[in-house]
Amino acid sequence: NNLDTLYRQVIMDHYKNPRNKGVLEDDSLTVNMNNPTCGDRIQLTLKLEDGKVADAKFEGEGCSISMSSASMMTQAIKGKTKEEAVKLSHIFSDMMLGKDYDDDIDLGDIEALQGVSQFPARIKCATLAWKAMEKGMNEEDTAK
Ligand code: FES
Ligand code: FES
Repeated sequence: NNLDTLYRQVIMDHYKNPRNKGVLEDDSLTVNMNNPTCGDRIQLTLKLEDGKVADAKFEGEGCSISMSSASMMTQAIKGKTKEEAVKLSHIFSDMMLGKDYDDDIDLGDIEALQGVSQFPARIKCATLAWKAMEKGMNEEDTAK
């Protein structure tokens, strides 16, 4: 239907024109993660300032779902507090599991990935960048 077509266009746009591609230097937090089922990988660099995500970039190799999800994720968490970013990750995870999710917050482009929940083999592709982000946030906590 039309919504599927729109969502597919949003996904392909993020894949072809990834937002926030690259590596942050300086004191940024670096997280590497791979999807063991296919070997695809992502490197995420995050810059946190005053408890907020001041900047986020990603590098990696992967399928259109994993790379577009990484692009959407970096876009979505910029300017958010750590707690908000992690909450968004949990909402995304619920979405991937096909559960009801909290849509009081503006999810932006992320909603375009909701159809992935119907393809269990692809869920790990979509969650890779989010897991990396959560890992980075957790490491930042323990580093304090
Ligand atoms: Fe790494 Fe799921 S276990 S992406
Ligand atoms: Fe490897 Fe999707 S097939 S991340």
